[in-house]
Amino acid sequence: MSLARVLPYTKQLLESVIEPGDCVVDMTAGNGHDTQFLAERVGPDGRVLAFDVQAQAIEESTRRLDEAGMLARVDLYHESHIHVGARLSDEQRPVRAGVFNLGYLPGSDKSITTTGEETLEALDALLPVLAPGGLVVLVV
Ligand SMILES: C[S@@+](CC[C@H](N)C(=O)[O-])C[C@H]1O[C@@H](n2cnc3c(N)ncnc32)[C@H](O)[C@@H]1O
Repeated sequence: MSLARVLPYTKQLLESVIEPGDCVVDMTAGNGHDTQFLAERVGPDGRVLAFDVQAQAIEESTRRLDEAGMLARVDLYHESHIHVGARLSDEQRPVRAGVFNLGYLPGSDKSITTTGEETLEALDALLPVLAPGGLVVLVV
């Protein structure tokens, strides 16, 4: 499946499980496109937690969410997604969905990228807090 088609498919899968008011996680915020998509789906009563290791990604995502008027429903963390378990409060558990869009930040230093070890560690942290019938999508 080409990248152009896999991204709409990812959204279709996520859309099929996310309801307004849900808590969901974007494990790789990047430029904030997926974070904004998730924020639209969960609505004003929902919550999105988004992670990225690069300051540039957090800044760009913050700008995008602010412009879209959805920053208040999103928590952006400038740290690795392996910390997802520690960042979820009791009220935010279980999460309905999570997405990993793996790789490097478009338009930035390509040497900074996701690693298999951390992805597996993050999955280990995320799966125990996933709601029954919830969904995790990995774009590899
Ligand atoms: C392909 S981009 C994500 C694109 C993003 N979902 C969007 O909609 O624009 C992958 C991102 O993963 C981030 N990343 C790499 N390792 C990470 C880690 N351990 N935890 C969280 N983010 C990480 C990179 O900094 C990069 O911004």
